[in-house]
Amino acid sequence: MEKERFYITTPIYYPSDKLHIGHTYCTVATDSIARYKRLRGYDVMFLTGTDEHGQKIEEKAKEAGVTPKEFVDRIVEGPGGITDLWKLMNISNDRFVRTTDDYHVKSVQRIFRKMYEKGDIYKGAYKGMYCTPCESFWTESQLVDGKCPDCGREVHYAEEEAYFFRLSKYAKPVQELLETGEFLQPASRVNEMINNFIKPGLEDLCVSRTSFSWGIPVDFDPGHVVYVWVDALFNYCSAMGYLNDRYDDFEKYWPAVHHIVGKEIVRFHSIIWPAMLMSMELPLPNKVYGHGWLVIDGGKMSKSKGNVVDPYKLANMFGVDALRFFLLRTFPFGSDGNFSNELLINTINTDLANDLGNLVSRTTAMVEKYFGGVLPTERESDPLDDELISLAAGARERYAEQMDKFQLHLALEEVFKLIQRANKYIDETAPWVLAKDEAKRPRLATVLYNLLESLRAALIMLKPFIPESCDKAFAQIGADEALQTWDSAEHFGALPANAAVHKGETLFPRIDMAKALDELEKMNAKPAAAPKFPPVEPDVTIDEFAKCDMRVCKVLSCEAVKKSDKLLKFMLDDGSGTPRQILSGIHKFYEPEELVGKTVVAILNLPNRKMMGQDSCGMLISAVHEHDGKEELHLLMLDDSIPAGFRLC
Ligand code: ME8
Ligand code: MG
Repeated sequence: MEKERFYITTPIYYPSDKLHIGHTYCTVATDSIARYKRLRGYDVMFLTGTDEHGQKIEEKAKEAGVTPKEFVDRIVEGPGGITDLWKLMNISNDRFVRTTDDYHVKSVQRIFRKMYEKGDIYKGAYKGMYCTPCESFWTESQLVDGKCPDCGREVHYAEEEAYFFRLSKYAKPVQELLETGEFLQPASRVNEMINNFIKPGLEDLCVSRTSFSWGIPVDFDPGHVVYVWVDALFNYCSAMGYLNDRYDDFEKYWPAVHHIVGKEIVRFHSIIWPAMLMSMELPLPNKVYGHGWLVIDGGKMSKSKGNVVDPYKLANMFGVDALRFFLLRTFPFGSDGNFSNELLINTINTDLANDLGNLVSRTTAMVEKYFGGVLPTERESDPLDDELISLAAGARERYAEQMDKFQLHLALEEVFKLIQRANKYIDETAPWVLAKDEAKRPRLATVLYNLLESLRAALIMLKPFIPESCDKAFAQIGADEALQTWDSAEHFGALPANAAVHKGETLFPRIDMAKALDELEKMNAKPAAAPKFPPVEPDVTIDEFAKCDMRVCKVLSCEAVKKSDKLLKFMLDDGSGTPRQILSGIHKFYEPEELVGKTVVAILNLPNRKMMGQDSCGMLISAVHEHDGKEELHLLMLDDSIPAGFRLC
């Protein structure tokens, strides 16, 4: 039988600032849903990616002195970048789309042309207020106190020749879509969309820009680039191969698609997106789910407030699974949630260390201690067992009902009811008392078996949320892969009587709240008072100084010197026409690739030196500082417009 398809997406993220815990929340939630659907036997396609065009990226790249593509490459694929973060967080996406990928660009150009030829896109002039950070035009009435209603920042008047999409034409069918059926979830978001955006009248949408160039060119009208939201939204189609040759999965997964998005972009996904799909005569997505924000002290995280929470730090300190779990256990997915480190640590200690961790370690320890790791087959049940067994048997269905509605915190609540009941069962049955009486061995074995089975049922449901920890726990209770499937959870009693149980490492160590908070504070503290620099050296004369011949050089090539962990070997264009070789002990601070093409400064008239058997003809100039025994070094780099050979004086 062919498997049912399930296609799920996260928003594609802007590679402008570092991703924070809010983005991680969205991606981890989507990942857990995808893993759950795989567990249920669906043919799952899980897509995430990056939204790389627009004026903001263009400006940031300029500030950084690199091309926009270099800028986004570094943030998307560089060390500590977006793909690294998803690897760290154990995100199981099947595909990753970048809007700068060729195939996506092709698709968007074809889509734009098709809507134009159909008459749904036409040429006009745009006048209005524009928010650069959000890449959004706003009407005067949408502004809040004259500022962007999304981010509260300054907007500016902008006017340009532009193409428009006939959004107005689709107002009625979009309203019908929102009002009937379950396209937009949670249902509470529907009225917000209708009252705030559709009822006041949908104006045609400006879908091209001429004021900057970092975007997908409109191929029949050079000078125009496609509005970043049109570009971005169609990633969900292009990444499946729609109107391109890169993939061939569109027929397969469309329209079985579920878009998970944050609340501030519900407008784009539930109004503009279906309207454009209608224009393209494509079937509409199965669902758009608008989740809430993680906030701090009730307000949005922002770089300017300095309260952006770094997922890297938290994952490294508390563990990836602990962080994943906390995000989805604590906050109702459809509402805002107030993040705090105290809450994070409390959740880990209560649910993971106490409830789950203790259940695993107590149960496995007792099977080892009383039976050497393998339970005997004689059993003796008691009416006391019934409640636990029926709870374990029914949990799967109640959990599934919540998971299918993306009510992740309620699904986890079902699992923890079972875990808490199992811990209570230990206290009720007091295995340590049973263990004292040889005649009670069948009863003791039954109690422990019931605990193992309850645990197995709980772990099957927890695996989409904390996959690595569940693997470890499955190994401890002796459940192989066949005993980890969804179907195997249906029968309480599937675990073989002779399963080999062994107590392993503690899954979730208890966290010392005061100590952890203190450490976090130290990590987040601004660097202490300005560093102390050495005093200025005694005077030299201008003539002495002028003897130092310092020149502008271009890095032609750069490579690590074999058998040295410090040295880099540079070939430089010093303007003389003959390449110059210089060795420099800065590998600790730079990778050779990142220096090629850079404009640097070298002092040329030092005596040649041999280093690791190779000639070094000069020295590169760096800014250096040593404090606390740590050396900080920045290779001096100049504006690339300065030609090689120019002398510094
Ligand atoms: O909007 N809490 O990208 P983005 C929860 N490129 N979610 C948060 C959050 C927080 N504090 N902060 C951000 C974009 N998010 C577009 C999407 S899709 C075709 C284009 C969520 O990087 C936010 O709600 O600004 C959004 O869903 C996602 O992170 C990406 O935000
Ligand atoms: Mg955003």
